[in-house]
Amino acid sequence: MHLYQISSKLLGDTVGKMNDNLTSVVLAASVITLTLGYMSKVLLKQSQKYPPYIPSSIPFLGHAIAFGKSPIEFLENAYEKYGPVFSFTMVGKTFTYLLGSEAASLMFNSKNEDLNAEDVYSRLTTPVFGKGVAYDVPNPIFLEQKKMLKTGLNIAHFKQHVRIIEAETREYFERWGDSGERNLFEALSELIILTASSCLHGKEIRSMLDERVAQLYADLDGGFSHAAWLLPGWLPLPSFRRKCIRYQRDRAHREIKNIFFKDDILQTLIDATYKDGHPLNDNEIAGMLIGLLLAGQHTSSTTSAWMGFFMARDKALQKRCYAEQKTVCGEDLPPLDFDQLKDLSLLERCLKETLRLRPPIMTMMRMARSPQTAAGYTIPVGHQVCVSPTVNHRLSDTWAERMEFNPDRYLNDNPAAGEKFAYVPFGAGRHRCIGENFAYVQIKTIWSTMLRLYDFDLVDGYFPTINYTTMIHTPHNPIIRYKRRKQ
Ligand code: HEM
Repeated sequence: MHLYQISSKLLGDTVGKMNDNLTSVVLAASVITLTLGYMSKVLLKQSQKYPPYIPSSIPFLGHAIAFGKSPIEFLENAYEKYGPVFSFTMVGKTFTYLLGSEAASLMFNSKNEDLNAEDVYSRLTTPVFGKGVAYDVPNPIFLEQKKMLKTGLNIAHFKQHVRIIEAETREYFERWGDSGERNLFEALSELIILTASSCLHGKEIRSMLDERVAQLYADLDGGFSHAAWLLPGWLPLPSFRRKCIRYQRDRAHREIKNIFFKDDILQTLIDATYKDGHPLNDNEIAGMLIGLLLAGQHTSSTTSAWMGFFMARDKALQKRCYAEQKTVCGEDLPPLDFDQLKDLSLLERCLKETLRLRPPIMTMMRMARSPQTAAGYTIPVGHQVCVSPTVNHRLSDTWAERMEFNPDRYLNDNPAAGEKFAYVPFGAGRHRCIGENFAYVQIKTIWSTMLRLYDFDLVDGYFPTINYTTMIHTPHNPIIRYKRRKQ
């Protein structure tokens, strides 16, 4: 029987017994209602089970140090101890992680009004992309903006992109000479900003991309840090020390916007209109151009650098990838084209496996704006709800030989295939990435070209450790040895 039914029955009985004594009836009714109200509150509280909470003896900071040192280890240990859903505090904020495919479904199936992205991302992205775009606007508007951007990311364009990227890559690596040891991550970061700009912005803007503009992008990027996101802006933190990164970030945003205003490229955006017919204004166009470039910059450069180290570590695999170039494209290795690129399936699996073991976005986050239920627990309003692709991609219940880099695992029966969110390097649901296909075209073209140019080795067997101090987990000391192939 529901509480309100019990309440009316009790009231009815009492009224019957008390007959005409109106005052007593009112009094009794009030007492009963209040008692039942209180009881229902207590019962509701008892029936609401909050996620297990990882205690900490450090006030305010909580687990920030342990998490910052080794976030994946921290989350994996917590998973072992507490299960797929648990909460902990860092820097005064409570985080609730949803680990594994089933728990993660809450985030990917939720509405933005309930688990909100703007609340957690906008303080980081709005100063970089500018106002009026991405997380600075209500999500239905951002969804329209994503649609506009997606129109530029189609197969007809990808066909041109392959040629552009191959040419940029060949030109870039001329400076490497025939053999040596170089910082692979740095090189790929520079190359990817050039190729992404050529493909997504057009050749006019690419031609302005000299070292000064690259520095402006780097300054904008300084805005993407743990500190900028987690901590109040007034704290005198080390990462803000270097001539105040925030100042550099804001100045860089203004200058880059001016460069875009000089040009009338990305006609798609200029011609685009929202559903109600109004066009994008100049700020929105500039913001979208910056966002387009930066969304793929770290993600793709980190991924391609890790992919290089995985191939350098496994020489037999590297040999197979080079042989695949010849089998698919022809013995004399003619210029790449989009259709051949699609058939480079081993290279594609290497990329897929790299994104499994080193997904650049290690945590996706939302703010709980209404109470949420996962694994039988109630997640209260105000918790930052998180899903970690990195952890999902290596859970031992889901992945066989979970820590092995094995691109061929996707050829076999693969238990993870049955779990919807076991593999989510590009997210899922309404916030899913729009750049996946472009990223695959870009990284596969770059690595096809690099494999044709060079043979790669680790330097004295060193495989980079993971740098956890950056928001995207980059390779630490990413030096690679290379030697030109004899054609
Ligand atoms: C290896 C490359 C990339 C990876 C691993 C990646 C990963 C992701 C992930 C995990 C999300 C979901 C974020 C969340 O749910 O909180 C996302 C969203 C997004 N990505 Fe990517 N991305 C990549 C490249 C790109 C590129 C090249 C572009 C643009 C051309 C791009 C544009 C976007 C956009 C616009 C969103 C939507 C964010 C939202 O709706 O909230 N990404 N990406």
